Amino acid sequence: MCGIVAAVTERNITDFLLESIKRLEYRGYDSSGLAIINQKKNIIRIRCIGKVNELSKKVKQKKIFGKIGIAHTRWATHGKVSEENAHPHISSNIVIVHNGIIENSLKLRSFLEKKGYIFHSDTDTEVIAHLLHWEQTKTGKSLIEVIQNSKNRLHGSYSMVIMDAYNSSKLIAVRSGSPLVIGLGQKENFIASDQIALLNITKRLIYLKEGDIAIIHSKNIKIFNKHGFIKKRKEIISNVKYKTIGKGKYKYYMEKEIYEQPSSIRHALHHRIKKDKINFSELGYRAKKIFLNIEHIQIVACGTSYHAAMVSKHWFESLASIPCDVEVASEFSSRKLAVRKKSFFITLSQSGETADTLEALRISKKLGYLGNLTICNMKGSSLVQESDFYLLTKAGIEIGVASTKSFTTQLTVLLMLVAKITKLKQKKSNIEKKIANILTTLPFRIEEILKKNNIIKTISHQLCNKNNILFLGRGDQYPIAMEGALKLKEISYIHAEAYPSGELKHGPLALIDKNIPVIITAPKNSLLEKTKKNIKEISARGGIIYVFSDQEIDLEENMTVIKIPYVEEIIAPILYIIPLQLLAYYIGLRKGKNIDQPRNLAKSVTVE
Ligand code: F6R
Repeated sequence: MCGIVAAVTERNITDFLLESIKRLEYRGYDSSGLAIINQKKNIIRIRCIGKVNELSKKVKQKKIFGKIGIAHTRWATHGKVSEENAHPHISSNIVIVHNGIIENSLKLRSFLEKKGYIFHSDTDTEVIAHLLHWEQTKTGKSLIEVIQNSKNRLHGSYSMVIMDAYNSSKLIAVRSGSPLVIGLGQKENFIASDQIALLNITKRLIYLKEGDIAIIHSKNIKIFNKHGFIKKRKEIISNVKYKTIGKGKYKYYMEKEIYEQPSSIRHALHHRIKKDKINFSELGYRAKKIFLNIEHIQIVACGTSYHAAMVSKHWFESLASIPCDVEVASEFSSRKLAVRKKSFFITLSQSGETADTLEALRISKKLGYLGNLTICNMKGSSLVQESDFYLLTKAGIEIGVASTKSFTTQLTVLLMLVAKITKLKQKKSNIEKKIANILTTLPFRIEEILKKNNIIKTISHQLCNKNNILFLGRGDQYPIAMEGALKLKEISYIHAEAYPSGELKHGPLALIDKNIPVIITAPKNSLLEKTKKNIKEISARGGIIYVFSDQEIDLEENMTVIKIPYVEEIIAPILYIIPLQLLAYYIGLRKGKNIDQPRNLAKSVTVE
């Protein structure tokens, strides 16, 4: 989604802004822009559609100089992709970049037009710029007071950074709806929507809390909370190694992140598994008390995180005997809800900023759940800040738009959580020990599967020119089929659909002919015999079958079986997604697609 970087320093800041905004490219965007205030107090703004490299070329031709500036990458929501709609937006002395959506922008726009303001873009951001200018001119108050007073008039989300050409020694940052992080330097300070933009310059960070407004000078900062009181926010030292953010020996971030999974899972397990025990002391005693009371679990998430949640439903029900419902966040928020007795609410998210998931969490708080927990990859994120409890997945920064390592680390943390809750509720159960032992072997198992990459490359060659591919799975393999299909769609733009294997005969069988490949994951479990029947049904209709299995599939049918090393049934979902991730990657690669930034997608979806 939109990326923001800003700086107030004692030196020319243009190069820093360009380098830093480039680092946010991975989040997805369609246009970018930058503005500085020069020594004559003039605002110099340069914007363009397309890549940040285009912006750099334009900026470098103009040789601009300024000690204070802001930059932005835009992912269009209000108004088409155009230079006029790219940020920053200006109203006389006010310059603003914004991440979010102003829901009442049309009403405000017509109010401001009546006051004589002329709009140069279709964006809701320009509405904020004019509103602040109007308030400032009308009241003569300081910009910070004007912002505080205008907050009630803005409905929606509006994380933003503002400069004032009449007072160019400071930046004002407002966190509302999506994160902003301050970077502390030596006689210079920075602000960005993502720490990645700042790590080459500082590791000293302060995450703003929801509703905070910060005044940022080169030598000091002041933060007001949502009630207008001055607050000290904790400074943290980022432990993200700047070097690890590169692609290393890999061609794409997605490839790197697939191969990183053994080490990401080791991080997720580190300090949490000790001698047959799962240690979640990070959750504290209060969580333990709540877990003992749980009679139902409601999980809400989107996309890949939703698929991880679907797998965990099988674990919660089969191991902990706790009924569990899983719902896509946007649907959860769109209907009247009936909450089960003693129900606990869980959100799953890589970014912790997905607007649909955040909205669901906010709704859940009014509904009488026992409490809520988020399983998330980003420590300073909104979901982590707003949840009662959190467990970090510790996957490391994920840059490829298509989630890979965040999925397998979510599953790892979920399985530990299921085992922990099971043990709390069933004192005699040996499940904690069993899961702890199996999970410690998981990174090695994944390393084994990653060695299969050559077979998968060959299959990708056979599949890359197909228009439609069907994925099938049964039980906890059905969410894996869904995730495999999602990966393929995102990376290759091939139409892929997932079905529960048993559902095939209720409709989709009509699709099967010699042109449609069907990919089936079929580990050894009690469902394998039924899956074999499905294989026969497809084969009888001439479908092209690929089966991933740890078993010899003793059928006469014409099919390709890709042998997966044997794994315990319980962790099979975590293992079987790996070949499907590789398959999507290699097909996308063969088709020459932009693997890390698929068209129309953004890494973190901060709009509903
Ligand atoms: C798919 C993908 C998306 C995200 C979804 C939720 O590869 O990345 O489907 O999984 O947008 O994002 P998070 O997990 O950040 O809430």
